[in-house]
Amino acid sequence: LKKGSLLLRNADELVTCSGYSAKRGTEMSDLAIIRDGAVLVEDGIIRAGGETEEIASAAAGTSFESIDAHGKAVLPGFVDAHTHFLFGGYREEEFYWRLSGESYLDILQRGGGILSTVRATRNSPKQKLLEAGKRRLDSMLSFGVTTVEGKSGYGLDRDTEIKQLEVMKELDRGHPVDIVRTYLGAHTVPEEYKGRTDAYVDFIIEEVLPLVSKTGLAEFCDVFCERAVFSIEQSRRVLTRAKECGLGIKMHADEIHDLGGAELAAELGAVSADHLLHTSDSGIRALAQAGTVAILLPCTAFSLKEKFARARSMIDSGIAVALSTDMNPGSCFCESIPLVTALSVMYMDMTAEEVVSAITINAAAALNRADTVGSIDAGKKADFVILEHPSYKYMPYHTGVNSVERVIKEGVVVYDRLKAISY
Ligand code: NIG
Ligand code: FE
Repeated sequence: LKKGSLLLRNADELVTCSGYSAKRGTEMSDLAIIRDGAVLVEDGIIRAGGETEEIASAAAGTSFESIDAHGKAVLPGFVDAHTHFLFGGYREEEFYWRLSGESYLDILQRGGGILSTVRATRNSPKQKLLEAGKRRLDSMLSFGVTTVEGKSGYGLDRDTEIKQLEVMKELDRGHPVDIVRTYLGAHTVPEEYKGRTDAYVDFIIEEVLPLVSKTGLAEFCDVFCERAVFSIEQSRRVLTRAKECGLGIKMHADEIHDLGGAELAAELGAVSADHLLHTSDSGIRALAQAGTVAILLPCTAFSLKEKFARARSMIDSGIAVALSTDMNPGSCFCESIPLVTALSVMYMDMTAEEVVSAITINAAAALNRADTVGSIDAGKKADFVILEHPSYKYMPYHTGVNSVERVIKEGVVVYDRLKAISY
């Protein structure tokens, strides 16, 4: 895709989130804001950021396109570091079953839930997955997301898992949003292995993990560690093998029950531990000690009507917290960054500053990409969000509503809300 050169100037707030690694604990409060800020971009890369006066004189003599951000806040493009956005079919009935009292895990136990999406994804031709995936990426882009992580896990058999990863690879080439691929074969036990979880784990370890790593189709491996899904021991086997294959590791940990998932993620040196709704004090200590990023997913807690994760204790313990959507067809059919930010300040006691760090630099760190995205620093990709408001503080405050007016990906304006309406 094409890369642009431009001068972005006069931003009321240039919220740089400056840094090249995860921000832990109190560091999350520092957004390194520049008033009346400007950024100079050449060929899709940030050359310099600073006050408009200084940057404009550095740009004198170039014929770069100039964008006036007067009255606006400019932030790094958002990173959605935990999603399952590529799937066949939908589960709208399940949403109402859960609201009438049936539990998420009971629905899965009787062959619904994730298994119903597995059937639909296996039967879905590549072309249909591509079309649905593109529409969902367009929606995420409109919320300011310029990098997204996407998990497999709706094929479970080798060929459908490969199909999901290949479709994401193709979408990455043709869509402005960058996609980071994660193999989640250990999402649940497929029907053909029913009652033989260990045999399915053997299959993952012997057949699929070496393949997805050798072909470069996945960069991370994730496991749904949960009661009646994959135990701590089974999760350990999958993730240990993934590490041997050179993949980074992630975990769906303590989402519905505390099995000690956070402790295992810390022990294995996972890049991130995700969900953490039921994580104990010892789990929090372990993550802080290991420097594992905690990816919290408040829209999932909201949609499952579970208690929210203990973000405050985590940050106060020195953990780097990231926030993501978890967009998927079951537990959380929601790609709304506005809802993530509102729930985080209202129900997880996070400050607006911590929320911004959590959807930018910390989310980038949770994907091993803090050196290339997640902040407005020279040398990084020129991915920016321009808000319709003068400050980042309007984001959670404009509750549940999209404050994003324009999105720039590698120096090119790829979303402009002002052009989206015509009458
Ligand atoms: O993050 N819990 C496991 N995986 C997803 C949900 C997947 C689904 O329900 O389709 C989650 O909640
Ligand atoms: Fe998830």
